[in-house]
Amino acid sequence: MTPSARLRVGITAFTLIAALAAIPVPVSAAEAAGPSAPTALRCEYLDNPMGIDMAKPRFFWVVGHPERGQVQSAYQIFVSTDPKAEAGDVWDSGKVASVRSTQVPFAGKALASGKSYFWKVRAWDRDGRESAWSAPARFDTGLFAKSDWTGIWIGQKNQLRKEFALKGRVKRARAYIAGLGYYELRLNGRKAGNHVLDPAWTTYDKRVLYATYDVTSFLRDGANAVAVTLGRGWYKSRVLLLQINVEMEDGTITSVVSDATWKAADGPIVEDSVYNGESYDARRETAGWERPGYDDKDWPAAEAVKGPAGVLSAQLMPAIQVVDTIVPLKMSSPLPGVYVFDMGQNFSGWARLRVQGPQGTDVRLRFAELLYGNGTLNQENLRAAQAEDHYILKGEGEEIWEPRFTYHGFRYVEVSGFPGTPRLDAIRGRVVHSAVEPIGSFAASKEILNGLQRIITWGQKTNLHGIPTDCDQRDERMGWMGDAQGTAEEAIMNFDMAAFYTNFVRDIRDVQDDQGRITDTVPHIWGSRPADPAWGTAYPLICWYMYRYYGDTRVLEDHYDGLRKYVEFLKSTAENGVLKWSHYGDWVAIEKCPGSIVSSFYYYYDVKVLADAARVIGKTQDAALYDKLAADIRTAFNREFYDPKTGDYADGTQTANTLALFLDLPTEKQGGAWGRLFDDVVYKHDSHLTTGIIGTKYIMELLTRNGASDLAYDIAVKTDYPSWGYMIMNGATTLWELWQKREGPSMNSHNHPMFGSVGSWLYKALAGIDLAPGTTGFETILIQPQMVRDLTHASGSIRTLRGEVACAWSRTERTVRVEVTVPFGSAAEVVIPKLGIRNIKISEGGKAIWAKDLYAAGAAGIAGAVDKDGAIRIKTGGGRYIFVLEGD
Ligand code: BGC
Repeated sequence: MTPSARLRVGITAFTLIAALAAIPVPVSAAEAAGPSAPTALRCEYLDNPMGIDMAKPRFFWVVGHPERGQVQSAYQIFVSTDPKAEAGDVWDSGKVASVRSTQVPFAGKALASGKSYFWKVRAWDRDGRESAWSAPARFDTGLFAKSDWTGIWIGQKNQLRKEFALKGRVKRARAYIAGLGYYELRLNGRKAGNHVLDPAWTTYDKRVLYATYDVTSFLRDGANAVAVTLGRGWYKSRVLLLQINVEMEDGTITSVVSDATWKAADGPIVEDSVYNGESYDARRETAGWERPGYDDKDWPAAEAVKGPAGVLSAQLMPAIQVVDTIVPLKMSSPLPGVYVFDMGQNFSGWARLRVQGPQGTDVRLRFAELLYGNGTLNQENLRAAQAEDHYILKGEGEEIWEPRFTYHGFRYVEVSGFPGTPRLDAIRGRVVHSAVEPIGSFAASKEILNGLQRIITWGQKTNLHGIPTDCDQRDERMGWMGDAQGTAEEAIMNFDMAAFYTNFVRDIRDVQDDQGRITDTVPHIWGSRPADPAWGTAYPLICWYMYRYYGDTRVLEDHYDGLRKYVEFLKSTAENGVLKWSHYGDWVAIEKCPGSIVSSFYYYYDVKVLADAARVIGKTQDAALYDKLAADIRTAFNREFYDPKTGDYADGTQTANTLALFLDLPTEKQGGAWGRLFDDVVYKHDSHLTTGIIGTKYIMELLTRNGASDLAYDIAVKTDYPSWGYMIMNGATTLWELWQKREGPSMNSHNHPMFGSVGSWLYKALAGIDLAPGTTGFETILIQPQMVRDLTHASGSIRTLRGEVACAWSRTERTVRVEVTVPFGSAAEVVIPKLGIRNIKISEGGKAIWAKDLYAAGAAGIAGAVDKDGAIRIKTGGGRYIFVLEGD
């Protein structure tokens, strides 16, 4: 961290403490207990991560406190090589006066490669009371240097094995594995870990991710076997680099590595492709090959192969896993011998098959999102993806199988070639995606909104496959960056995306060229270099969202050069201050605006983000430089796109006016756009959107910001075309790619998360949970629910890095009830609208806090309240509050 960034953090911290110091806190005997031991310990955003490969990993914890309005005043961290972490032999931070409980960087002795570290933390509150120590948490370091890897890349065949002997008791063993495209690692027959489709897809000539497993309990005194099955995945061929470091009780250290002493064979997987499916011939199984004692003398030696050129990096994000298992709703037989299982939900993953029958029977599974009217499978919208698995029976009683190296996006599974008639339990849906933790919830009294939240979250999570994908079913499934940036805020509210996006922005940097250009898809397969500016903006915007929602300044430091190069590239293509080029404009809009206004909007946005990022990390000269550039772009934007005759920007489409207004581009001279936008939505389109993915991302928030939440709500609850509700009424269980209902061979995915950008509006506007303007990491929270139209209650919660933030409100004609949870150490402003109620009284937990237009002090944790802009605004510290507003 630069000195001025440190200063900045210090100032924020100080301001927060100073603000909270004013809050009255009555102390009872029970409360004298002080802060509870920190929980939710995270290192680099992860729970006991394996493979930390940076010099200064960051620590996070959550403190509880029985008193409202309390804050942490100091902390102490021990990092040790001893599991009990009784002392900080690697790092004893000492008692550090700080309110920070997130993003605290390690500052001890240099960490060593391939070791386990244990850490714990305790905290002090404002009154100097100290918590107990937390339970110890762990992190394991990865292999730091290239020279730590002593094996070689081997491969080609899909089964690789080696036996090795150990003498004595194993004290500690770690397996480090980079197996491309995908691998499954077994030791003595047992699968290591629960990753599937691992490692995550990267730009392999730049970076290859390896996983680290604790395999101590897998190994034994005597003969051992390591077995790896390889799939082709996105790498399209099979290569393995593996290293198992074993430490024996007696102190000896052995390494088992991939090399030419391994044996290789083609196994039962005869075909595997991400798009097309997997074919498995169980007759070709080589029983026992994963265990010691298997006779592999007929197996040829594994081939040494040229590995990928990329650097090896630890995979430090939630791996892809089988996250859930779905029981089909029903089975039908539209044709003789053809059975269609309806899973009742569109998702990414595969089917697990249970079957019994004669050897050689070929059971075919096909996957689709849609059915034809006659009940048969409609695969037209999968385009070139075949989405077809085969299982050929070995004929030895009940056989249970699921593929390993493919996945499909589907709701329906067609089974043919099945011996006899399958029962419903022949098929189970296996939901597979990056196992990011769900941390958000949203619900409201209007049922269509609950449906919307449901299709957003299903669409979002099933499109996290190591990278954020556009879709999960057809011949794409790529990291299209426009889709990624549009959904990022929604994803951050619903899931713990911190480690995932840390990895993804590095993926973006990996594709950047010397001219600063990045690409439409990351890794780059489809689309262009340079990326459309609305796609490339994923780089600055996701970094910025990480800073805002997680308080992550390191991401800005690490990527500052990349972001600056990117912005300088955009600048080099500007003509008179605007960008005239675009590949996609407002993608899939109903009324498409000129691409140049979309590109120029993002040019301005990216420059502003860069200027702000420069300020945050203490590059004040750059900040001034890019502030000036932003001001120039704004002038150029208004000159180029504003039409004083109509009051519109560009062609006056919803998107054109929305973009200009969202970033406050108009000056007093460009006054017409808001009225034009409002009229277009209300009168011309009866409260429907005509926007594509770009306009949709901003319009709902803009309406709310400009006091038109009722209109935003009208749009959100529509059920006729075009609307989210229209998708739901037509059976969508995930978001569609298009507003239109299409089911033919054209581009019409039925699981495309990009229109889910509205998800952040559900939280911010209806549940009322937002960051206070200009603040980061939920240190200062704005709770401002929009009690619109006929909505009688709404609730939301987000498990942030500091603890839970929640708001649940309900109302009747003359009462409003708002329940709020603010994390320990955070501050909030709770804005309760008066809704035309007069002679307002507000109580909190039964105590009067507002009467006769005045704040009445008394309730713990509340710093004050004022009546402003049609609402009572209450300042609180951390804690749970129940406010009840009543009147006439
Ligand atoms: C993808 C989109 C993507 C677009 C770019 C499509 O094929 O599915 O979601 O953003 O191409 O134009």
